[in-house]
Amino acid sequence: MAVKKNPAQRVEQLREQIRFHNYRYYVLDDPQIPDAEYDRLWRELQSLEEAHPELISADSPTQRIGAEPLNAFGDVRHEVPMLSLDNAFDDGELSEFDRRVRERLELDEVEYTAEPKLDGLAVSLLYEHGILLRGATRGDGSTGEDITQNVRTIHSVPLRLIGDGYPARLEVRGEVIISHAGFQALNERAQQQGQKLFANPRNAAAGSLRQLDPRVTARRPLEMYCYGVGLAAGGKLPQRHSEILQRLRGWGLRVYSGIECVSALQACIDYYRKLEQQRESLPFDIDGVVFKVDRLDLQQQLGFVARAPRWAIARKFPAQEELTRVIGIDVQVGRTGAITPVARLEPVFVGGVTVTNATLHNEDEVRRKDVHIGDTVIVRRAGDVIPEVVSVMADRRPENARAFVMPTRCPVCDSDIEKVEGEVVARCTGGLYCEAQRKEAIRHFASRRAMDIEGLGEKLVEQLVEHKLIDDVAGLYDLDVESLAGLERMGEKSARNLIAALEKSKQTTLDRFLYSLGIREVGDATARSLARDFGDLGPLIDATEERLESIPDIGPVVAKHIVHFFQQPHNIEVIEKLRNARVSWPVTEKAAHQPLQGHTYVLTGSLSVMTRDEARHRLQQLGAKVSGSVSSKTTAVIAGEKPGSKLAKAESLGVAVLSEQDLLQLLEQ
Ligand code: IVH
Repeated sequence: MAVKKNPAQRVEQLREQIRFHNYRYYVLDDPQIPDAEYDRLWRELQSLEEAHPELISADSPTQRIGAEPLNAFGDVRHEVPMLSLDNAFDDGELSEFDRRVRERLELDEVEYTAEPKLDGLAVSLLYEHGILLRGATRGDGSTGEDITQNVRTIHSVPLRLIGDGYPARLEVRGEVIISHAGFQALNERAQQQGQKLFANPRNAAAGSLRQLDPRVTARRPLEMYCYGVGLAAGGKLPQRHSEILQRLRGWGLRVYSGIECVSALQACIDYYRKLEQQRESLPFDIDGVVFKVDRLDLQQQLGFVARAPRWAIARKFPAQEELTRVIGIDVQVGRTGAITPVARLEPVFVGGVTVTNATLHNEDEVRRKDVHIGDTVIVRRAGDVIPEVVSVMADRRPENARAFVMPTRCPVCDSDIEKVEGEVVARCTGGLYCEAQRKEAIRHFASRRAMDIEGLGEKLVEQLVEHKLIDDVAGLYDLDVESLAGLERMGEKSARNLIAALEKSKQTTLDRFLYSLGIREVGDATARSLARDFGDLGPLIDATEERLESIPDIGPVVAKHIVHFFQQPHNIEVIEKLRNARVSWPVTEKAAHQPLQGHTYVLTGSLSVMTRDEARHRLQQLGAKVSGSVSSKTTAVIAGEKPGSKLAKAESLGVAVLSEQDLLQLLEQ
């Protein structure tokens, strides 16, 4: 039977358990218990401490956020200076470093540890008898700022070391960072709260560590990775850097798990290349690889020059962010018609290439980042990702800077640009005609649920457009065997087959045809509703938004897309060409039967057999217009129960008034 512990014992036991689970979670990245169980331990400790405040100690896991906001940070003198690193910008400079090291040491080969150079802020943690006493920034290397109360809020910084064998005074050094995931969450939160966004994780980490109120810092997703030791007194440390890192990990400090020992230059280069490839997929930003002579006795032999050790070097990745100037803002039309503002830049070398354009994503982004033509901006190119404008250097805006104006017409095909309310992306409405959308339009036109043109795949569409054999979907029906047979991987037999498939596709149905036009948000189901409702293309082309909205499943946005599409003269031209090529479909009776064409009705009061929406829809199907207000042009007002002022208006204008019964008869006819 378990002996019931007194509160002091239980508190100590809980703290030890929590420390251990923190270690599993933050250092080993291998939690042993579910979050809920951890929360239970935490809450038990919290309530015991509430009941027995005399048991609270500064190193209790519950005491991460304690202190009141400061007025200013105090100074910390580093007993062992915090040095910086020399840089190598290419393999040649790395090779020079290795040669110098070997020459000085008179050795043929030297072992190095290879570790990522994390892109955050250098921080020093001082532990006395295993208890975190002080946290400090690097500052100028000899004096930094006391940020103890802020580092205490970082969960991967143990308030008390675990295990044993650590020196009585141990100063651990490392980098405080914010991960990509943490950064994203932080900016999402900032956006929701209408606050200014952080430009990158490093700035976010720096800003967070500089908070005078630790409660603010505690809400920021800071993490710390350790990479070395400064002061160590009252105890022994191993004689190799790699072994010291192992030890730190054992004491509950977080150390990056991919650190390796390499010897010989080629192995260093290989590690660098490997990390460069992993760069985009790592959970945090790194800006290079640090190589350090592994043996401490050799480090000592090599010593320092100025503020950097001779035994280490940072092989830097190409910078991912640079400053340059915006010389113009154009818009680009994507293959689906999306309009993207693009900044034209003074050429700048970033992310390993010369960049002259950077995406601004959409109009809202241009406004949010407040990018003007003439501005100096930070451009980012990470990996293979399209370069983007990150932010503007507001204080460098010249007087003649100009704001961006979103064009109203497509720069490629001159059709209207449409931006539906509530959507971020503006689009070109000339889908059938626009050169930028040509390949996509043809591919969609030929697809199975559209015109179902067998043998006309993506590759062939590319060839047809690139060899300028067709300009738009109608051009497909002008193709002949001779021109097709000249294409790569296209024999006469396949050419003949394709012509036959094209011929066959001409006999289609209205819903397939509508779907094949690629009108935004008109999928095959919507196309079927439209075909069923209108029966033929003519009435659909003339339909108003109101008429379209009367169809079940068609909302205001789709209605707008349809109207805009048919308003573009170029789209109509292409449709006419298709009809001239004898693309046809059976017309259903409904379309031919429009007896109420030219009549306008107004509905008022409530109907009993059907709703007013239904009545409106049925009238429109028969070709009538349904209006919301009575005028002398109104054919008749249809009055249900409790009619409104429209009835009186009709009577005063001498407009005919029909009952619900009359309406039913009218619809029956
Ligand atoms: S060692 C004497 N290792 O880089 C060596 N620094 O340019 C001192 N850094 O201030 C630093 N990752 O903030 C070292 N694995 C790493 C590092 C690293 C990032 C930063 C650190 C330092 C700066 C020097």
